[in-house]
Parts: sequence; C-alpha cells; structure tokens
Amino acid sequence: MQKPEIKAAVESILKGKHIVLGITGGIAAYKSVTLLRLLVKAGAEVQVVITPAGKEFITPVTLSSLSGKPVVSEFFTANTGEWHSHVDLGLWADLMVIAPATASTIGKMANGIADNMLVTTYLSAKEHVMIAPAMDLDMMAHPSTVRNLATLESYGVEIIEPAAGELASHLMGKGRMEEPENIFSRIERFFMKQCDMLGKKVAITAGPTYEKLDPVRFIGNYSSGKMGFALAEECAARGAEVTLVCGPVSLQTANPNIHRIDVESAEEMLEASREPFANADMGIFAAAVADYRPESRAESKLKREGVEEMSLRLVKNPDIAATLASVKREGQLFVGFALETDNAHANALGKLRKKNLDMVVLNSLQDKGAGFGTDTNKVTILRKDGTERSFPLKSKREVAADIIAEILS
Ligand code: PMT
Repeated sequence: MQKPEIKAAVESILKGKHIVLGITGGIAAYKSVTLLRLLVKAGAEVQVVITPAGKEFITPVTLSSLSGKPVVSEFFTANTGEWHSHVDLGLWADLMVIAPATASTIGKMANGIADNMLVTTYLSAKEHVMIAPAMDLDMMAHPSTVRNLATLESYGVEIIEPAAGELASHLMGKGRMEEPENIFSRIERFFMKQCDMLGKKVAITAGPTYEKLDPVRFIGNYSSGKMGFALAEECAARGAEVTLVCGPVSLQTANPNIHRIDVESAEEMLEASREPFANADMGIFAAAVADYRPESRAESKLKREGVEEMSLRLVKNPDIAATLASVKREGQLFVGFALETDNAHANALGKLRKKNLDMVVLNSLQDKGAGFGTDTNKVTILRKDGTERSFPLKSKREVAADIIAEILS
C-alpha cells in the first residue's frame, strides 16, 4: 500500500506545473476542453496556444474562461500591438502538449515551418513535447504523415497514438484523437517519472545571516540565496517535500511543495532548522552563516558624534551544520558547502570530516562565475568515501541537479 505522504504527493503531481496546451484545427478540438478542465482541476497552470484554424472549431473565450489566462494565437495583439513572446512561453513551460495535432501542424513541426504562434512556440520549447494526432485514416496512413511523425519522434517528441474507430468523415479506421482522460494520464505519468524524490523530506539552509549591531546596522555577507533556492526548487520538482530555512533574501519560491521559513540571524537559523533537519531524509547546508556576531546589540541607533573610534567585540555563532550533523540519525544524509578562497581542497576535506557530513560541495571564489550572487556556479563534490567529482561552470539550477544526482547515487 502507498504511504499517505506518497499518495498525497502523487495526487498533487500537477500542482503548479506550467503546461502549454496547443490546439490545432481539427474536429477533435472540442475534446481539448475536457483535457484543459482536467489539467486546471489538478492544479496545473495552463497556457493555451491555438492556431488560426483551431479557432474555427473552438472559441478562445471558452478556453480562456477555463484556463484563467488569455488565449495566445497571433504574434501580436491587433489593437495594442503587444508582442507575444514564443521564446518566453517555450522557456516557461514544463511540458507542451498539442492536442489535437493535425497533419498540417505535424508537417510544419517536422520541417520547421514557423508560420504561426503554435509552431514557433514548439520550436522554442526547452522541455518535453507530446502530440496527440487526430485526422482522417487516409491522411494518417499517408507516407508524408508517417515520415513526419517519425521525424518528430527522432526529435524526442512523444506521440500519443490515435485510436481506431469512427472518424468525423464517418469512415472507420485509425485517426481518432486519444481520449482526454488518457492524455491526462500520460501527462501525469510524465511528471511522475521525473519524481525520483517522491516521499522524501529535504531540509535546506540558504542565503546569508544578518547579525545585528543596532536597529539599523548588521554584519552580513554577499550570499543571495540563489544556490539554496535552486536546490529547493530542484528537489521539489522531483517530488520531495522541502523545508527551506533562509536568511534575508529577495527571492521567491515557485513550487508549492517548498515550505519556507524566513530568519535573520545564525541563532534563529539554527533554532528554525532543528526540527526540519531532524525529520529530513536529506539535509543540505547552502547558507553562508556568519561565524561571529556582536557580543551585544544596541537598542538604539549608535551615534557617530563624539566617537572617533569604535571597537566591536564579536562572539562565535553556533555552527549549524556541525550541531545538526552531530545528532544525525542512521539513514540520514547531510551535505555541506565549502566556500573557499585559498587551500580550497584541503579546507573542504577538513569541513567534511569535522562537521560529520556525507558530502561537501566546494565552490571557490577564485573561479570566475562561482560563489556569491551569480546565476552560475562551478563545484567539486567531495564524498565521505574519498571519491570526488568536478563539474564545469553551469547555471545554479543545473548545479543543483548535479548535486541531487550525486546524493541519489
Ligand atoms: O547564496 P548565493 O549567492 O547563491 O551563493 C551561494 C553560496 C556561495 C553561499 C553557497 O554556494 C555556499 O558556498 N554556501 C556555504 C558558504 C559558507 O558559509 O561556507 P563555509 O565554508 O564558511 O561553511 C561550511 C559549511 O558549514 C556550509 O555548509 C555552511 O552552511 C555551514 N556553516 C558554516 C558556519 C556556521 N556557523 N554554520 C554553518 O552551518
């Protein structure tokens, strides 16, 4: 029997997913309404893109009412001149589904004929694409359709085979678009396959800590939180339930499976992290925690008048990673980061051992594009068993995927 948390995760697999639903000009377009309703009901955000011919079969008003978004069809909105960016749509989508896909659209997709918004969006799509062909049996069997479908398959497009039955022409044969409920199941299965962390609990620290001097000043660092947030999004996208304990950052989380706890100081971060890390299957310490804090904090703003010099007395902050990893349970896996400027490798190894971690992700400020604030990072992952692996400069999201792949392996 499925554990309750896995059952809940499966049920919410489409929640917050971005899906582009492409509709082309075939009689089966009416079935797309059912598919759209199923997707929206399951919590997906759906952007409908329809071809000019598609609008002859189903009205954009019906589709926009159900999706809650204006339907995109043309490159420009006629009265305002607003440009619709197929590139942005292609990047936004976690999945593109074209249902129904006519012989004409399939031909254009296979041959790069980008004369409408739907085909240009397909050509810009970065994520997986599924098509549900629908046409008359002779069109379906025509060598050009067969060849175009094979071409699309070779590009990685998933073809949802049409069923056999009575067609719009009243002929019997293969060409009926697959039922919307079955297309919906295929979509669920696609996202399920990506969820290799379903049922896993992950706790992550991210961002800087601010250690207050007075009500207006603090000791802090340059961490933006981007690395920790990328890890949180990656884990959540793979089905994990994530708790993200973060210092002061200006980032937003996108995935509803991320439970965010905002803190300011290292002491607050430690307290907020105790329970999530104790309950987690995996813990990742990506925060840049201030090692010291002012011994005392002024209640009112410190004044400069008559003060020529000022000394600050600092006391040591708790080491969050070391504290929580010292009570690590059997089966838990804890990963730290090491941000270094010199003797990077030796220092990272020292942290791995001293903090009782299973893995350390080393990033060095000597590497251009790595570390604080950037959208990229360059890391070497050191494991407790003595093995290590270096990666080239990548986006922080890709680095997050590499780290998770290492953890899961
Ligand atoms: O947030 P970004 O702008 O995206 O930048 C990302 C990052 C550079 C902050 C991140 O990739 C990173 O390296 N985080 C760890 C930074 C750091 O504090 O490194 P450290 O070598 O000082 O600490 C070693 C490990 O102990 C880290 O996992 C750290 O989170 C943890 N630590 C350190 C001190 C402390 N008091 N408590 C801790 O938990």
